[in-house]
Amino acid sequence: MLAETQKHSEHPLKRVEYSTFELTRLTPHIGAEIRGLDLSKALSAEESRELDAAFQDWMVLVFRDQAISRDEHKAFGRSFGRLHSHPMHKVGMRGEDPEILPVITTPDSAYTAGDGWHTDVTCDAIPPKCSILRIHETPGGGGGDTLFANMVLAYELLSDPMKEFLSGLSAVHDGALPYVGAYKAKAPEGGFAKTEHPVVTVHPESGARVLYVNSGFTTHIKGLTSQESRRVLDLLFDHVATTPRLHCRVQWEPDTMTLWDNRCTQHHAVWDYYPECRRGERVSVLDTVAPACL
Ligand code: SIN
Repeated sequence: MLAETQKHSEHPLKRVEYSTFELTRLTPHIGAEIRGLDLSKALSAEESRELDAAFQDWMVLVFRDQAISRDEHKAFGRSFGRLHSHPMHKVGMRGEDPEILPVITTPDSAYTAGDGWHTDVTCDAIPPKCSILRIHETPGGGGGDTLFANMVLAYELLSDPMKEFLSGLSAVHDGALPYVGAYKAKAPEGGFAKTEHPVVTVHPESGARVLYVNSGFTTHIKGLTSQESRRVLDLLFDHVATTPRLHCRVQWEPDTMTLWDNRCTQHHAVWDYYPECRRGERVSVLDTVAPACL
């Protein structure tokens, strides 16, 4: 069914001209491919300044042909802040190095990590601000793309009465939902992290409002009845999943690296390549402030 009223983005066109690299947009609202930067080396001050600007505008940046080592991957992550350690490491389910999250799907996998709309680790009081995934083995027959959604635009496209209803509400984000529910991990002593965040947050750098609930971690909205909370969350989750203009799609090649902003995006790994394999590694970077509202 077509929408009766079409709302448009309130944001001006995003910048595409940079002096230190070439940028090609994936869509007008989210996602850009960058060519001309070698992420195995420290970036110059001007490259870093332009990269920060492009990251703020485009939210998801795709870099091709980055055959870099694990240490170089971590060093690039550290240029954004301290590295995050994923909660699944604490229960011995994700490799040896706490700063590297292996992302591996084989014919024997019971699930593929991230195969549903989510923002990384929002069960933490201070979730990672960004993640950097490098895929080194793509499925031979294609597939294994990652979808991303612009959660600033997701907020903007809501009606004014809905925005008003959501402002001031907070929601619970529970690590047990994905880690125990979907991944069948045994919870550590004291359980996985569980925390409350505002339903609408403000991006600490751009100042934009962000719809900040996700089907991966958000269990309920505080202060609503359980039925109200379920219906409202499902409405918001459907909005994210069924509004194509929120989305971009990253097609991986061996040695593609993608950097995304967890403070204003969600993503969804697509498992459409069974029985083939896909392998990569993710580094995430800790934020310094908790998601906040105005
Ligand atoms: C994730 O970080 O959720 C995994 C994304 C992917 O494998 O494409």
